[in-house]
Amino acid sequence: MEQADVIIIGSGIAALQLIGNLRRDLNVIVLTKSQVKTSNSFLAQGGVAAAVGADDNPYDHYKDTMEAGRGINDHEAVIQLTKQAPSVIHALIEGGCDLDRHPQGELKLGREGAHSSNRIVHGGGDQTGRRIVDCLLKKVGPNVRVKEHEFVYQLLTDEQGCCYGVRSKHPGGTVKSYLAPRVVLANGGCGQVYAATSNAETVTGDGLVLGYLAGAELIDMEFVQFHPTLLSVAGNIKGLISEAVRGEGACLTDEEGTPIMKGVHPLGDLAPRHIVAQTIYDHLRQGGEVLLDISSIANFARKFPAVTRLCESNGIAMEKGKIPVAPGCHFLMGGIRTDAAGRTTVKGLYAIGEMACTGVHGANRLASNSLLEGLVYGKRLADHINHQSKKIICSKAPRVMEENRELSLPSIKEIQHSMMERVGIMRTKNGLKLQKEWLESYPVPENLDALSITQLSQLFMLITANLITTSALARKESRGGHFRTDYPFERPEWQHKHIQLHKNRKQGEIYESINAPAFT
Ligand code: SIN
Repeated sequence: MEQADVIIIGSGIAALQLIGNLRRDLNVIVLTKSQVKTSNSFLAQGGVAAAVGADDNPYDHYKDTMEAGRGINDHEAVIQLTKQAPSVIHALIEGGCDLDRHPQGELKLGREGAHSSNRIVHGGGDQTGRRIVDCLLKKVGPNVRVKEHEFVYQLLTDEQGCCYGVRSKHPGGTVKSYLAPRVVLANGGCGQVYAATSNAETVTGDGLVLGYLAGAELIDMEFVQFHPTLLSVAGNIKGLISEAVRGEGACLTDEEGTPIMKGVHPLGDLAPRHIVAQTIYDHLRQGGEVLLDISSIANFARKFPAVTRLCESNGIAMEKGKIPVAPGCHFLMGGIRTDAAGRTTVKGLYAIGEMACTGVHGANRLASNSLLEGLVYGKRLADHINHQSKKIICSKAPRVMEENRELSLPSIKEIQHSMMERVGIMRTKNGLKLQKEWLESYPVPENLDALSITQLSQLFMLITANLITTSALARKESRGGHFRTDYPFERPEWQHKHIQLHKNRKQGEIYESINAPAFT
């Protein structure tokens, strides 16, 4: 049984930023279920939003973030995020990260949906995530033990409910326990719960479920962002076509070449994502095709090397200038509720990155605010931990209970397709109720030790799907990433309400309450 001062689950940008900023005398274990570079962060094409332009300022970035989030963001959290954004960019540059610049030397600033200024910083054109990850990985010191292919399936908590370690499973079936007084969840969102997604294959809601099963409170789980433009080949999703492409002038059209966003929103093709995604979805449902016309963009392949590679490897003739697109799940705004330092409601347990709900995104995340959030909150949590004294763990890992239980679970495909159909871009009370009943017809076992990694993944996706569905059923309005056709408008009485979820310990079911919590 290995021990450390800090255990970090996940290896995306938030985790790497935390690692790079932690004191070097702290012993750190990083556990990742795949390889270090298999993360959404590594795939990120969009950049980092920051008011670093001469005619920009954090207050405008704040206003755009609040507008995209439809006003239910936590004001203070957004103010702090947008104020700290420029310093995060400068720290990256000082740390040797090569960000895109004009020939004269100043940073190149791109535009994305719902931003009122050019304020997106990129690296390698559309390879920003990869560039930042590579740079942060260089800062991993000898105090950090990275363990790949370790699927964490349980958080260990003592009688007081404090988290003191984790239990993980290796593909060969070996179960290991790792102990630490501080455990950080940094293993991303849950895009794979949906049939159409931009997310890496590994992003299946594990962190959300680990926190939930350990008693942490979750919030805003109904707010799921669907990215408007994923490459769609013969009805199959192949990857992301960055919004930066529309920022450079690409236009969404129908098969006849008629622009579909004209007259829908004043920002046209760069309207907030939920509006563009809903418009495309409507069009596709009526049997049409939606194309991204890139013919107005000079030097496309040089500006967007990753998008070009993706399209060419999927047989798209780039010289025709039309990319077939469809929307798909991209980002979860809700998640495990945390305070400004990343503390969850469980002592000893922290969450950063997409699975954390810090209050900054509200009902819909502004483009390129997610890498930013990971960088800001990774650094903040490091500062918080660095200021604390080392702690000793008194508890021991409990015995592994190998129980040979037959478990019936739906297939991953069944979960993904039913979520897309009933809890996707357009939701109805009936669809949501049907989905909840179906998901709850599969009981969640108490003891997870005997399950295989495949069964654990299915189970975690099932629980994540239920958390989203429960919240979506409870919010009786439409707002940002949550659209209900039976309540198609924002309702003022919901403006300050949040759906909170936690596990009902006695009955093992989801307990939900509607509240107006103050994020701190
Ligand atoms: C994109 O490049 O369109 C995605 C960026 C983001 O989601 O922030």
